[in-house]
Amino acid sequence: MVKVALKNGIFWVGVVDWNIRDFHGYVTNRGSTYNSYLIQDEQTALVDTVKNSFADELVAKISELTSFDKIDYIIINHVEMDHSSSLPVIAALAPNARIFASQRGKEALIDHYGPDFERVETVKTGDELKVGKKTLRFVEAPMLHWPDSMFTYLVEDKILMPNDAFGQHLATSERFDDEVDPHVLMEEATMYYSNILMPLAPLITRKIQELVAMKIPIEMIAPSHGIIWRKDPMKIINAYLDWSSGVSRNKVVVVFDTMWHSTDKMARAIADGVASQGVDVKVLKLRSYAISEAMTEILDAKAVLVGSPTLNNGIFPTLGSFLTYAIGLKPKNKLWGFFGSFGWGGGAVRGMTKVAKEAGFDVYEPGLEIKYVPDEEDLKKCLEFGEQIARKIKG
Ligand code: FEO
Repeated sequence: MVKVALKNGIFWVGVVDWNIRDFHGYVTNRGSTYNSYLIQDEQTALVDTVKNSFADELVAKISELTSFDKIDYIIINHVEMDHSSSLPVIAALAPNARIFASQRGKEALIDHYGPDFERVETVKTGDELKVGKKTLRFVEAPMLHWPDSMFTYLVEDKILMPNDAFGQHLATSERFDDEVDPHVLMEEATMYYSNILMPLAPLITRKIQELVAMKIPIEMIAPSHGIIWRKDPMKIINAYLDWSSGVSRNKVVVVFDTMWHSTDKMARAIADGVASQGVDVKVLKLRSYAISEAMTEILDAKAVLVGSPTLNNGIFPTLGSFLTYAIGLKPKNKLWGFFGSFGWGGGAVRGMTKVAKEAGFDVYEPGLEIKYVPDEEDLKKCLEFGEQIARKIKG
């Protein structure tokens, strides 16, 4: 195994999940990694583990660097099972290692893995653990990503290990930002933020401000998924500040599905109307695009236009699923509009409008409905609908 050192005595011992394509509903077209780090000084600490299906590989990687009886500390920054589910294996191999987590982390470890983990010791923001010349400082980060989450900061090496924050689902043989295509890296970081961290935007802004106030210099960010930021850690911090503040541009995303191409024709005409006003437009048909891809496009858009045919007097299932997902992710600063075709009673546009308003979305009304198949006059109305939305977001 090639040793991957972040700095002297700090090693990546994570695993690459090349073939995962569905991360509880999030389409991970480029796979993922579960990053675990081994810190060797006078004492040895392991920060986070990996998904349990890769426990053997984690054990093998650690074994190449040290023996398990030399592991003094295990830090669990986050209990979600992609990071903690190898802990029972590691704890059994290193029974004398002291385990540290936040208070909520300890409770969650007991809930996941049983009373053996009553022995977990709790830490809070500002607590430190000396492992020789190196010091680990803990920063609680509740809800980034779960209530238990915390960051570990290596004081002398200036490395932040923030677990889920600043990650990407990206499987590569390279480990650092200066080794991979920067566009691919930012594409995956954007998708990750859009689908995992977007609803936590206010907490992200506050946590970054808190880190700034602590005046802790950061030379490297080593998250628990994907690539380590060593060339330019500020790039991802600044991107998070922009995303969490809801920075958007003159862009409209049209998300739709269709049964007999009527809503499809409407979507295309609406997109033409948007583009005619000099506004960027993206058109995504669900069943061709995953909802996680749609949310990534929506992140920096000022408006989202959702088209659904009426099925059984209601919303077409893919759009129902999309709206449920979007509402949960709480996208900021968007104008939402709804359109679709119907045969007799209608219901999809009415239903989507109601759901969006109940969620507190800013809804453009009225929506646009077309009976059966749009004719020339109907397509003109679609074009005008797109033009109106584009003019509204341009201000
Ligand atoms: Fe990567 Fe919240 O787990």
